[in-house]
Amino acid sequence: MGRSDASRNDDIEAAVGDALGQIAGASTLEDLRAVSAGLTGKKGRLARLKAALGGIADIEERKTLGMLVNEALATVTGAVAARENELVRTSLAARVAAERIDVTEIAVGAAGSERRGRLHLVTQATERLEDVFIGLGFRIAEGPEVESDFYNFEALNMPPSHPARSMWDTLFVETDPPGSVVLRTHTSPVQIRVMQEWPPPIYAVMPGRVFRRDTPDATHMPVFHQIEGLVIDRGITFADLAGTIEAFTKAFFGSDFTSRLRPSYFPFTEPSAEFDIRRPDGSWIELGGCGMVHPHVLQAGGLDPDEWSGFAFGFGIDRMAKERHGVADLREMYSNDIRFLGQFP
Ligand code: DAH
Repeated sequence: MGRSDASRNDDIEAAVGDALGQIAGASTLEDLRAVSAGLTGKKGRLARLKAALGGIADIEERKTLGMLVNEALATVTGAVAARENELVRTSLAARVAAERIDVTEIAVGAAGSERRGRLHLVTQATERLEDVFIGLGFRIAEGPEVESDFYNFEALNMPPSHPARSMWDTLFVETDPPGSVVLRTHTSPVQIRVMQEWPPPIYAVMPGRVFRRDTPDATHMPVFHQIEGLVIDRGITFADLAGTIEAFTKAFFGSDFTSRLRPSYFPFTEPSAEFDIRRPDGSWIELGGCGMVHPHVLQAGGLDPDEWSGFAFGFGIDRMAKERHGVADLREMYSNDIRFLGQFP
């Protein structure tokens, strides 16, 4: 090891020290790119040191110094990468801060009055329904709006060409084979999904959008909302169903309301019923369908009908909102006229 060796060593150290200083001093990504090109490029100080190694006669010395230069280059490249990371992060943070939109901002009208946004009537109704059911010990579940024939019909005890399929004017999605995918006609398919995913006992409500081939009029929309209920446990009876509907009626509408069940038919429940709500003035509102979950449906959900039993119910949310607020025409709810929507704070 000669004297020149030690001085070359110092040169390398000095080059690294200088490089690290320049890297730290780069305050933008552009700066850094320029600095990095100068440091690691062919004309950089370290590259020149490396090139000069060729002139060293002693092989060992050349080897050692070569390694040191390579290490130095690695240190510099590493420092560039770290600084780049840092700069990307700060520039991103700055951009996020600059482009931030305060969606809670209150628009102030010309006269200084507040113009605050509000939840849509149907969203309000859905949230109230969820609150009531959560209060009764239910959990919320959701399922897809584009649904397979299996979940929308077959698993609900309606094999292909079952006549009950015509109870729903179905919108099909163009698929091959045709008819295998639908826009769900009701929220009942979510029952099957919940049974397949959640271990029993199950106490669930499932709100969501549903679709039917209907021409809009005062009481029908091709897109509307339902909430489905499903209870699965050991020893559940029809009395539990009637009791739950009654408890819900009082909790949602008020203690001066009551409910009744009328025999009906749905393929996925046996026995099936329709339920009505009695207003304090003695008039009745038809609300929805319900019944004891059919053994075939339990099986489709992966449950043993000898071990588990349960009930289900489903009803329209839009109609409830219409009822509650005395809206004459369902179409009003979807015209998005701010003068209409603004009436329901
Ligand atoms: N899915 C039915 C419909 O859209 C409503 C319904 C009836 C749901 C009975 C149920 C039920 O869960 O048990 O017409």
